[in-house]
Amino acid sequence: MTASTCPTDIQRLLRVNHSGEFGAIGIYQAQRLLARLTWPQGVTLVDEMLQHERGHLARFGDLLVRRGIRSCYALPLWRLGGWLLGALTGLFGRRGILLCTFSVESTVLHHLAEQRGQLAGRDEEFVALIADIEHEERAHRDHGLAYAATPNLPLRAIDALARTATKFAIRLSLRF
Ligand SMILES: [Fe+2]
Ligand SMILES: [Fe+2]
Repeated sequence: MTASTCPTDIQRLLRVNHSGEFGAIGIYQAQRLLARLTWPQGVTLVDEMLQHERGHLARFGDLLVRRGIRSCYALPLWRLGGWLLGALTGLFGRRGILLCTFSVESTVLHHLAEQRGQLAGRDEEFVALIADIEHEERAHRDHGLAYAATPNLPLRAIDALARTATKFAIRLSLRF
């Protein structure tokens, strides 16, 4: 498939996934930095997730390049937004970092499952790539499972912010 044969809606989905990974890298980069102060034992885990996101970005990037599809115009905004979310949640240490991971990855997994439905029978290469990546996104989400239902108010606010920011970014990137 090339840019001329790849349907526009599929081009958009590829672009939004690529952008999402770009944003995820921002989150984990900032959290890795903050975790040194607020959750030193967690630095290794955050770093491991960061390396996964780099792998995802490379794979979506490779598919974009091979098909001759441009990336999202708003990429710097994704990185900045991700970084801000990561820095804010990193201040709260283990709970903030893991709850943010839970909220963001849950939203991402929901989005990926929807995409697979939309792409089934139309773009098996893309579907296979999503299925591959979902493994790691699920593992990321599960690290934060313990904090999913926390009654702590600041953490509830983080949860709402992380979910809203992710959904907003996805919607924005489907346009640009
Ligand atoms: Fe990812
Ligand atoms: Fe992830």
